[in-house]
Amino acid sequence: MSRLQLEEVRKSFINGDTEEEVLKGVNLTLREGEVTALIGASGSGKSTLLTIAAGLQRLSEGRVIFGDQNLPDLSSEQVRKIRAQHFGFVFQNSHLVPFLTVEEQLSMMMDIADMKGIKQYKQTKIKEILDQVGMSHRLTAYPSSLSGGEKQRVAVARAIIHEPEILFADEPTASLDSTRSRHTMELIQQLTKSFDMTTLTVTHDEEMLDYVDCIVKMSDGKIVNA
Ligand SMILES: Nc1ncnc2c1ncn2[C@@H]1O[C@H](COP(=O)(O)OP(=O)(O)O)[C@@H](O)[C@H]1O
Ligand SMILES: [Mg+2]
Repeated sequence: MSRLQLEEVRKSFINGDTEEEVLKGVNLTLREGEVTALIGASGSGKSTLLTIAAGLQRLSEGRVIFGDQNLPDLSSEQVRKIRAQHFGFVFQNSHLVPFLTVEEQLSMMMDIADMKGIKQYKQTKIKEILDQVGMSHRLTAYPSSLSGGEKQRVAVARAIIHEPEILFADEPTASLDSTRSRHTMELIQQLTKSFDMTTLTVTHDEEMLDYVDCIVKMSDGKIVNA
């Protein structure tokens, strides 16, 4: 089943007196339980497309359909709520907060997503997700004591702690070595299946395509045959 649908999406940026169109009518459907990889040369528009799909940036023209809503029709506050409650994010850098423990990173995200719940439930949920990513033994660790691969595992756990329907990942393995990259992608693939999520990931690395269901190639602001 389709979970997010992009229709005729266009995006232009104004640089000085010139307007540059970086997305030139993109159509894309993301389905439940599937990992879709966005590939293509640097500057082809992958990150712009991902941020528009995730409601992090406004489009110039087109539609982004989530459920029965078109994101561009909503107010910034309505989009913020959808993002906080239904979407999860992983980036190239894990972006962990240096002065919070692993447990606190996840707890903070549950607060942002407005998952009220009792303290007991919160702790159970955090433990459960950290078990899934193989990090429950580092509950009280600070980011500075974690390796790059471990940080990215915590970042993935933090991205899915509120059980989002859609996970957006922009080059999640770009700062990891080959083995840790494979582990991270395998984890993302496995979590997408077990939580019946929908994942859109940008990647530069051909090896990572072993872990995806669908490959979408971009070139010069358009989707071309992969
Ligand atoms: N905020 C911005 N202002 C102006 N131009 C931008 C902005 N964001 C992206 N671009 C331009 O849009 C194009 C696509 O960028 P991006 O989506 O980041 O590509 P990719 O992720 O595929 O490398 C590039 O030419 C980039 O310079
Ligand atoms: Mg990019």
